[in-house]
Amino acid sequence: MKIVMLGAPGAGKGTQAQMMAAKFGLPHISTGDIFRENIKNGTELGKKAKSFMDAGQLVPDELTVEILLDRVKKDDCAKGYILDGFPRTIPQAQVLTDTLAKTGEQIDYAINVDVPDENIVARMSGRRSCPKCGASYHITFIPPKKEGICDNCGTALVQRDDDKPETVQNRLSVYHDQTQPLIDFYKEKGVLRTVDGTKEMQEVFDAISAILA
Ligand code: AP5
Ligand code: MG
Repeated sequence: MKIVMLGAPGAGKGTQAQMMAAKFGLPHISTGDIFRENIKNGTELGKKAKSFMDAGQLVPDELTVEILLDRVKKDDCAKGYILDGFPRTIPQAQVLTDTLAKTGEQIDYAINVDVPDENIVARMSGRRSCPKCGASYHITFIPPKKEGICDNCGTALVQRDDDKPETVQNRLSVYHDQTQPLIDFYKEKGVLRTVDGTKEMQEVFDAISAILA
């Protein structure tokens, strides 16, 4: 089962992908997480990606596509995967489609987590994540049991550099310009499923689970 998560920044793609990965035993592949890991480790790729991410812009396709195609060749992807944050442009989606078509494969579902812009800023400003295990929280909506500490591994939670309000606005407009057209791209392929992402986290997950079952 090959799944693509679509949705605005902060819609809950990562939150849902993590839950789906646990339930269906599929790897959760987030290009944003791959870039953040590279920034943390000071790699050449991380240095190139950081300036784009901090500005709320997309990292160029030349850097992004190869990383993703290498990642999905790994053994743990043999039974499928959940892509979170890729594709993000029509050219990225086209390369993915063409690459899969060479081996007679395709994306089975594109899950669009639909959240209007007015909800996004509140979600992003309250987001906290674990730098060690990647778990994501929200100070009001999905708080950890102990303030500022990860439930899973006890690490101090951090706020993402690109969650500042000005950057969030840029990310939203980049989303509308470059990523939203993917909704029609996958609709035309007959694999688009939309869920109401404004609902409570578990309700959103139940809706996605019903689609995938
Ligand atoms: P990326 O890391 O993918 O960020 P994004 O798409 O902006 O999405 P987010 O991770 O911010 O949001 P999310 O939808 O995962 O929401 P979350 O579950 O955390 O990309 C970052 C940057 O990397 C990009 O800007 C770009 O520069 C670069 N990049 C990455 N991929 C790229 C690509 N393919 N091409 C080019 N550049 C690329 O939820 C948000 C908050 O809401 C959390 O606090 C969460 O706890 C809370 N929440 C979740 N669900 C609910 C709910 N149902 N109710 C209430 N609160 C909720
Ligand atoms: Mg995410």
